[in-house]
Amino acid sequence: MKTYKIGLLGLGTVGGGTVNILQNTLNEIERRLGHTIEISIIAVRDLNRARPVDTTGIQMTENPEDVVNHPDVDIVVELMGGTGLAKELVSQAIRNGKHVVTANKAMIAEFGNELFALADENNVIVNYEAAVAGGIPIIKALREGLAANKIEWLAGIINGTGNYILTEMEEPDADFDKVLKVAQELGYAEADPTFDVEGIDAAHKLTILASIAFGIELQFNKTYTEGISRITAEDIHFADQFGYKIKHLGIANRTENGFSLRVHPSLVKKDVLIANVNGVMNAVMVKGDHVGPTMYYGPGAGAGPTASAVVADIIDVIRAQSMTVEDRIPGLGFKADQLAQAPV
Ligand code: NAP
Ligand code: HSE
Repeated sequence: MKTYKIGLLGLGTVGGGTVNILQNTLNEIERRLGHTIEISIIAVRDLNRARPVDTTGIQMTENPEDVVNHPDVDIVVELMGGTGLAKELVSQAIRNGKHVVTANKAMIAEFGNELFALADENNVIVNYEAAVAGGIPIIKALREGLAANKIEWLAGIINGTGNYILTEMEEPDADFDKVLKVAQELGYAEADPTFDVEGIDAAHKLTILASIAFGIELQFNKTYTEGISRITAEDIHFADQFGYKIKHLGIANRTENGFSLRVHPSLVKKDVLIANVNGVMNAVMVKGDHVGPTMYYGPGAGAGPTASAVVADIIDVIRAQSMTVEDRIPGLGFKADQLAQAPV
């Protein structure tokens, strides 16, 4: 049994959710994992800001380099966002031999190729399940569950804020800006919400999904990107009268010449499953050549769902460091005396 030490960059929506899980579900996680996890240090921008979680016993700093250079930290969890400083810090963490978990789709979509090569050189892991579709384990589904398939196409609602806005705008008198403000208050939106409403966030995510699904390099600059900012309540009303919903979709296809990646508002027949994915929920459809069409559904943004994916990635890093037979075969290490008595 080993204690794995975590250093966090950021304690906002997702960072707060991550600390909450690591404090409140830790016993259960550690029991299943067979190792202990400790948060050693957290970097924030403003130490005087009130926090929704208890940070007693955790070293707090305004200098994020303290985290990536901390001698005891095994895993750096980057939850601050942005592509400048975040990328520099993650690179430094990797060079220092630390594993990285991140929810930062912008950084992965734009600089992932470089970061993965650096991680390979330094023999560390970079995990980023939380970067796409919040709590849905879609990266694991593509990499592991569907690994036997040639993926023909994938398509989905991959921005929670955008789907929340489009859903709320179905109500009479809904106002785009007011609905966006609520999405920001609920912690769904990006620090710069134009990423959500102009489709940039969905394009980051589609770039990541396509890379894994098709086994290609990340190519964000080749993704056609159109958002929902020009959709009006009138458009939604007319679509409804003709039997359609307007959904913002990310679509990745194999083509004769390679692959095509595009995000844009789409008319979807009301009786199609994905037309009924509402609010902050996301859904991704994936067609594999052997499995056929599959669909994955769940909350696409917010503290709990995103942090759930972050902590799962931390657990994966620890499992990869300490592979035992029990880790490789799910359920093998479980003990009979831990099972509840079946009702008679
Ligand atoms: P957030 O609420 O704005 O939190 C950002 C955190 O980073 C804050 O605690 C902030 O400190 C800290 N920070 C920012 N710049 C810093 C600096 N220079 N030095 C030290 N600390 C710094 O953002 P979030 O919503 O949690 O998102 C974090 C990341 O997760 C982003 O990459 C985002 O795209 C991604 N993500 C978010 C969601 C979601 O639903 N929110 C879902 C999936 C992925 P202060 O608190 O002191 O300002
Ligand atoms: N702003 C993003 C969204 C957060 O609304 O989907 C989750 O990635």
